Amino acid sequence: MASALGRDVSIPLSKNTHLIRWVEKMAALTTPDSIHWVDGSPEEYAALCDRLVAAGTFIQLNQNLWPGCYYARSDSGDVARVEDRTFICSLSKDAAGPTNNWVNPFEMRRTLKQIFRGAMKGRTMYVLPFSMGPVGSPMSQIGVQLTDSPYVVVNMRIMARIGQAVFAEIDKDVKRVVPCMHSVGMPLAPGQKDVPWPCSKEKYIVHFPEAREIWSYGSGYGGNALLGKKCFALRIASNIARDEGWMAEHMLIVGLENPQGEKTYVAAAFPSSCGKTNLAMMIPPAGFDGWKVWTVGDDIAWIKPDVQGRLRAINPEAGFFGVAPGTSAKTNPNAMAALSRNTIFTNTALTPEGGVWWEGMTDEPPAECLDWQGNRWTPEIARQTGAKAAHPNARFTAPASQCPTIDPAWEDPEGVLIKAIVFGGRRATTMPLVYQAFNWTAGVYTGATMGSETTAAAAGQVGRVRRDPMAMLPFCGYHIGDYFRHWIRMQRNLSETPRVFHVNWFRKGPNGEFLWPGFAQNIRVLRWIVERVHGRALALESPIGWMPSYDSIEWSGMNFPREKFDQLQAFDPGAWRAEVIDQQELFIDIHDHLPPEMVYERELLICRL
Ligand code: OXD
Ligand code: MN
Repeated sequence: MASALGRDVSIPLSKNTHLIRWVEKMAALTTPDSIHWVDGSPEEYAALCDRLVAAGTFIQLNQNLWPGCYYARSDSGDVARVEDRTFICSLSKDAAGPTNNWVNPFEMRRTLKQIFRGAMKGRTMYVLPFSMGPVGSPMSQIGVQLTDSPYVVVNMRIMARIGQAVFAEIDKDVKRVVPCMHSVGMPLAPGQKDVPWPCSKEKYIVHFPEAREIWSYGSGYGGNALLGKKCFALRIASNIARDEGWMAEHMLIVGLENPQGEKTYVAAAFPSSCGKTNLAMMIPPAGFDGWKVWTVGDDIAWIKPDVQGRLRAINPEAGFFGVAPGTSAKTNPNAMAALSRNTIFTNTALTPEGGVWWEGMTDEPPAECLDWQGNRWTPEIARQTGAKAAHPNARFTAPASQCPTIDPAWEDPEGVLIKAIVFGGRRATTMPLVYQAFNWTAGVYTGATMGSETTAAAAGQVGRVRRDPMAMLPFCGYHIGDYFRHWIRMQRNLSETPRVFHVNWFRKGPNGEFLWPGFAQNIRVLRWIVERVHGRALALESPIGWMPSYDSIEWSGMNFPREKFDQLQAFDPGAWRAEVIDQQELFIDIHDHLPPEMVYERELLICRL
C-alpha cells in the first residue's frame, strides 16, 4: 500500500493532538497491522480499488460500458440496516424514548471495549476525515471515521467530502469533531485467509448522543457502516440540531422551476424506499414544458433559520446511496445518468458482459447473469424459484455531481430557502393524493402521525403499516416526543413559516390497482404545492386539511378522469376514525413527553370527523 501511494501511510495528516491521541488509543485497542491516514486523492482511491479487486471484494466492471465502476457482493447476512441492533445510549433511558433501543452507556462502553479489543488484527485501520456538507460551510459538521474496511473508505469518498481539506478544517480547531469508530468485526489470525466481505454475525450500531460519538461493529453495509449518513447526519445530528435550534431531517430537497424561471425549494420526508430518489430527480412529463426539477439532495436535509428567520437547507451528503431495483431509464433517467460512471454497485446482478442489472432496469431481463450471491440466474430459474437477480436492497453509490439535474446551488454553503415541507408514506388506503395542513402545528401533527408500509431497506417484515413520524422512526437520536416539541418550537424563531403538505402516491383502488401513475406525473401535485405556497391556487377545505379541486391541478398532457381524481382524493370518515385510533398508539407510548399541541390537534381532528 505504502509503495502504491508513494508515502509512509502511517504519518498523521493532521496536527490536531486530540485526533492523533485518539487514533493511537483506538489503535492500541483494536491492534490493526497498519494505520492509513486517508488523503482523499484520486491516486489513493485507485490504489484502494485495486486492493479491493485483489481481495475479491470488488469486480471491476467492463470499462467500455461502465467507466470507473466497480461491483461488490456483500455477505448474505449483511444486506440492510439492522434496526434491532441500533442503540441510542443516552445517559438516561428516558432521553432515548420508547422508539429507540437503549442500553446504559457505561455498560455499552464496557461491551464495546471488549468486542473492539483486537478487532482490527490483520487489517489496516483507515483514518477517514469527512465533512457532512460543503467543507467550510457554516452549516457543515465534521467527523472522523476509523474503519478497517477499505470498501467503506471508497464509498465514503463518494458520499461525503473527505481527505486533506477536511484535515485542514480539523486543524483550525473551531468545529467539534464527531468520532466514529467502525470495525467489520473480523480480525485475521496470522496466515488466515480473508473473505471478500468480512463481517460479523454479532452487530452493534451504537450512538452516544451526549458525547456525540458513534461506534459501529460487525457490518460493512450501507447505513450500518457509512457512518456519515444515518448515524451522524440523522441520529447524532438530530441531537446537535435540537440543542442548537435547527433540524436534521430524513428529507430530499428539490428546486421546482416554473416556465417563468421562478424557483421554489421544497423538502420532503418519505420513509425508506418510497421513491425519494425518483422524486428528487424527476423529469416533468410532456405537457409540462418549461417546468424543471432541480436536485439538491435525495435523502437528508439539514435545515436552519437564517438571520432573517427563513429556513435554509443543505444536503449534507455528496453522493446518492440509492436503491437499484426499480431504477430505470423510464423511472429515473437522471439516476441512470448519475450511476453510469464512477459508481459502486453492491448486491445487484452481474451480467456476462461485465455490466450490472437489477429487476426493473430493463423490460427484457438478460438471458443469464450471476445473481447478488454469485449464483447463475436466468429468467427461467426466476420463474421456477422466485429468485431475484438483485437483492431488493441492492444499492448504487454515485457522485451527486454526476446527476444531470443537480441544482447549481446544491453546494451553496448558505443552503437554499425552503418554502414547503412535504410528508408522505406508502399507503394503500385512507390517505388522499395530496392535502395541505391548516397551519404549522397541524403540519407537525401530520408528520408526527405519518404511517407507511414497511420495505426492504431495513431488515424485517415487508408490507406492514408502521407509524414513522417524519420518516425519522429509525433515525431520531432522542425521545420522539421531544422531537415533536422541537418541531413546534422551531416556528417561533421564523419570520416566514413553510407550508406543510401530505402526499400519497400509492393509494389503491378496489381491485388493488394503483390509482395514480406516480413518477413524473407527481409534478402535477408539486405544481399545486408551489402554487399554494405562492398563494396562487385554490383549495377546498376538508376535515383533514386543504385539498385541490380537480380544476386546480394542471392536467395538460394527461388524460385523468375527474371521477378517478375524486377516488384518489376521497375522504372516508370511517377510515379516518380508524386512522386516528391507530395514530393514538404511538401517542400513548410517549404520553409523558407529548407536547400538548399534539393532543389538541388530535382532538380537533376527531371533532371534525
Ligand atoms: C436509506 C434508508 O438508505 O432510508 O436512505 O434506508
Ligand atoms: Mn433514507
